[in-house]
Amino acid sequence: MSKKLVSIYIEGRKIKVPEGYTVIEALWDTGHDIKRGVGCLSGLCGACAIAYLEKGSKRVRFGLGCQTIVKEGMNITVMPFFPSRTANYIISEMGKPIEKLREIYPELDTCKNCGFCTIACPEWINVSKVMKLLKEGKYEEATEMMLDCILCGLCASRCPYGIAPQFISLFVQRAISHEKPFPENLKKRLKEIEEMKYDEEWGRILQMSDEELVEFCKRIREEA
Ligand code: SF4
Ligand code: SF4
Ligand code: FES
Repeated sequence: MSKKLVSIYIEGRKIKVPEGYTVIEALWDTGHDIKRGVGCLSGLCGACAIAYLEKGSKRVRFGLGCQTIVKEGMNITVMPFFPSRTANYIISEMGKPIEKLREIYPELDTCKNCGFCTIACPEWINVSKVMKLLKEGKYEEATEMMLDCILCGLCASRCPYGIAPQFISLFVQRAISHEKPFPENLKKRLKEIEEMKYDEEWGRILQMSDEELVEFCKRIREEA
């Protein structure tokens, strides 16, 4: 039996797609050649940010195209790459890097805690609170709150002051980890990479056609 169809709008254009599809599946199903805005298909890489309106609602919502299920009357825009300032630094050459936070990211203190970033976050992180904690020097607490960040950049795309909270937080995570012992399991994994343990598997993935890659990603997602 064929699946029930729902009508959605992509960039204002009406299309019919099977019920139960994710936005990315719906885009592929209707011939949209989306490659750049897709990665893991598992809600982990942050590549597939979307903005959408639900039928009858005036509130713009944000989410991940690979995790958002289409609904009748939904109006969707695939978010383009959003430019954010990233500072250049080499943590290992900075002595006590956390002391350089304001030098590296002076915009931290321009945050007004307006909360627009929090509304946009598809991981339900209270980004505005994270910024407040960072300003107060509560780095561990802020870092804990950002553990689910997938660097999708939606928070930065909403900030009226041009702040990229995800990169500020990333700097802080790197700075405070720099002062802790290097994790043993990570040391082991890096050694395996140096010894090219995964090169054969990686080579196999690079040889895959688009269709094989989609199937491969689906399988990994099911097994996870
Ligand atoms: S949107 Fe910008 S100014 Fe507002 S709380 Fe977030 S980082 Fe601060
Ligand atoms: S904190 Fe920002 S970059 Fe991280 S998941 Fe939330 S919106 Fe995306
Ligand atoms: S494709 Fe990676 S989060 Fe959606």
